[in-house]
Amino acid sequence: MVGERDEQCAGPSGLTLIVTAQLKIKNSKSKTAVPSRWRKEVQSVLITEAQIARRIKTLAREIERDFHGHEMVVVALLNGTVVFLADLIRQLNLPLRLDFIGVSSYGLGTESGNLVFTKELRLDVRGRDVLLVDDILDTGGTLSRVLPKLRKLQPRCIKVCVLLDKKERRVEKIEADYVGFTIPNEFVVGYGLDYGERYRNLPYVGLLRTEILPGTES
Ligand code: IMP
Ligand code: MG
Repeated sequence: MVGERDEQCAGPSGLTLIVTAQLKIKNSKSKTAVPSRWRKEVQSVLITEAQIARRIKTLAREIERDFHGHEMVVVALLNGTVVFLADLIRQLNLPLRLDFIGVSSYGLGTESGNLVFTKELRLDVRGRDVLLVDDILDTGGTLSRVLPKLRKLQPRCIKVCVLLDKKERRVEKIEADYVGFTIPNEFVVGYGLDYGERYRNLPYVGLLRTEILPGTES
């Protein structure tokens, strides 16, 4: 990631990460129908369950290659990562330990507000290879607060994995090492992502109807 000065996580060959092509989701008008239960709130499906499942398998192979042979600690940010994380770690065929950092930006809106740490890391990551997992990289505000905190614990290296990347919204100079999908500047919900703590249980990533998102910019 940009600004990272730790050693690179590398596979047994010593090669550093080779970033494979990221999947760009361009069109928000997916042809996949929204299941009837959600049609009043969800306008469209942006990324289907099948697309997510396929992409996670590919990401897992890349991560396995880069972390092979090292003590891996997966550090996930609560709460948005829970669904993605559960699927991702079950595809990772290598030993790992798992811990969480709780971050919350209070409020119901679609803008990242004041960040509060609600849970601290418990595992010792000193000298370990850390995979930091978040749901979505938006302005970069969250990761720009979390990464320095994590670096102080002196891991050997940190790689960042996000399901979604909204590049257009970036304010901080931060990029992820593994990105599931690059998406347009639209507020999304589902597959762990919420609006006012709702919609996390949708099995796909979707767009809410405008009437559900009053007066929002994204
Ligand atoms: P950042 O700090 O601006 O990069 O945003 C990161 C956090 O904002 C994510 O972990 C989400 O919790 C939240 N967020 C950003 N964009 C969205 C979105 O489109 N839907 C739901 N949550 C979002
Ligand atoms: Mg979040």
